[in-house]
Amino acid sequence: ELVREWSGRLQKEQQLAKKLGIKEVIIVPGNADHDENTQMLLSQEAAKYLESILTDDKVIAVTGGTTIASISNFIHDTTKWKNLMFIAARGGVGKDVRLQANTIASLFSDKMNGSYRTLYMPDSLSEDAYTTMKKEPFIQEMMDLYERTNIIIHGIGDAFEMARRRNSNDEEMQLIKEAGSVSEAFGYYFNDAGEAVHRIRTIGVQLKQLMNIEYLLAVAGGTAKAKALISYFKQAPAQTVLVTDEGAANEILHIL
Ligand code: BG6
Repeated sequence: ELVREWSGRLQKEQQLAKKLGIKEVIIVPGNADHDENTQMLLSQEAAKYLESILTDDKVIAVTGGTTIASISNFIHDTTKWKNLMFIAARGGVGKDVRLQANTIASLFSDKMNGSYRTLYMPDSLSEDAYTTMKKEPFIQEMMDLYERTNIIIHGIGDAFEMARRRNSNDEEMQLIKEAGSVSEAFGYYFNDAGEAVHRIRTIGVQLKQLMNIEYLLAVAGGTAKAKALISYFKQAPAQTVLVTDEGAANEILHIL
């Protein structure tokens, strides 16, 4: 019985990877929308995957959010790897420091005996601030690090949920809506065709830089994120590996 269940999941993983046009999908049991255990399994699988691909001298960028934050709980305390550097893929989101990429980068680096660089600034900048910031040497250093990033671990969100979390004002909400945004990742909003239709002004990894990154680990589950995942993966780099759950996987296969 167990073997049958396992081979059924394997088949589903392959089917989903093919439909989304990515390298690999890992599906954990349950639905993260209302199952804490599933949320933990997602993070645990992601931690396991990261540990399986790591080698010395790597630059690893992480985003924020609840899913990525919880991965650090499942990473083993180790000195196995030398010279790992963890960086925030972008500025902070919302007010909760625990969920910000900066904090998560430091948690990962503590566990893995690495170093980290942070990007302390609001998630959304005014045009003037953005232009000025870009000239700052420490920002330049981050930009250079994004060019040398080997691994990215990131979340994917529902466009409106993320806009709400960012306290986007009415004007921005309207923009996001009118653009037909469905998903959000890295501060970019994507429509159902996977086109980046809106971007918040923030310092962070650029969409075009993702193409050159060897390992992209996306972690997102729950039925409520199914449409967002379909939207994001319309354009995601083919080398992406997605860790998701049955809740999202079944709904995506139902839609596609
Ligand atoms: C973050 C990303 O990692 O996760 C966002 O920066 C994404 O782009 C978000 O939308 C999703 O958050 P959560 O809490 O649902 O994992």
